[in-house]
Amino acid sequence: MELNDKHVVVTGGGNGIGRAMCRKFAAEGARAIVVADLDGDGASAVAAEIGGTAVRLNVSVEEEVQRLVEGAIEANGPIDLFCANAGIITPGGLDDSNETWQRILGINLMAHVYAARALIPHWVARGEGYLLHTASAAGLLTGIGQLPYSVTKHAVVSVAEWLSITYGNQGVKVSCLCPQGVRTNMLMAGGEDASNFLLPGSKAPEEVADVVVEGLRDERFLILPHPEVAEFFRRKADDYDRWLKGMRRWQAQIDELRG
Ligand SMILES: NC(=O)c1ccc[n+]([C@@H]2O[C@H](COP(=O)([O-])OP(=O)(O)OC[C@H]3O[C@@H](n4cnc5c(N)ncnc54)[C@H](O)[C@@H]3O)[C@@H](O)[C@H]2O)c1
Repeated sequence: MELNDKHVVVTGGGNGIGRAMCRKFAAEGARAIVVADLDGDGASAVAAEIGGTAVRLNVSVEEEVQRLVEGAIEANGPIDLFCANAGIITPGGLDDSNETWQRILGINLMAHVYAARALIPHWVARGEGYLLHTASAAGLLTGIGQLPYSVTKHAVVSVAEWLSITYGNQGVKVSCLCPQGVRTNMLMAGGEDASNFLLPGSKAPEEVADVVVEGLRDERFLILPHPEVAEFFRRKADDYDRWLKGMRRWQAQIDELRG
């Protein structure tokens, strides 16, 4: 897909990767961009900058996602590309409360299901439509110290695969963006010392947006701003036990750093 003249909706578009994608899509000539975010000020600032429309919403509330989709169609006609990108991370392990699990499941997983439910009937009727899910390398490889996050991101990869298998023959295209560290508020909240182990090798959000546009152009399912993730994923499939051993070695190094 080329972005020129397209109608695009981006959730989590007010900051980080979503903001960089909105800017890049505008530069590529998209005709209408809806910047949707819980952070209304962030969304408004990005929309003002690129001549788009801001919508404040909580993606974990199904009616709000439905309203976003219907409102965008009413204002700009059929949606060509919907980027389900909004996401959060939690502190991380078995100590995370059930409330925390429910919250992250709502934002990182169910929001993707709500978006698909709202969009797919339109796209099947039209015979085309493109859904980009922002998952994570943690959805392919499991992030150290990131239990609920990794679970939700694995689930998003599965939702994306299922949608591609089920609706691909009816013209629906699906891609899954799986970055490792990206220097956004989310990653920087982990601090700037060595224990923030994804910082070395991290990318700027603008670099990710460039790779997204290339991936959409090629209509590739897996979009990997960090190409090494493909190699790690291959090694995991090749020898699961060896991969787990390597991950445990990495875990031990991080435990040592964190004292
Ligand atoms: N930064 C990284 O290292 C990294 C790596 C892999 C994947 N990701 C994924 O990229 C996506 C974007 O994250 P980011 O790094 O740009 O972080 P970010 O915090 O800069 O941006 C996330 C955006 O999502 C919005 N958001 C959060 N909860 C929301 C809700 N309930 N409803 C609507 N909007 C909501 C936030 O307001 C924010 O604007 C996330 O899905 C994240 O999991 C990030």
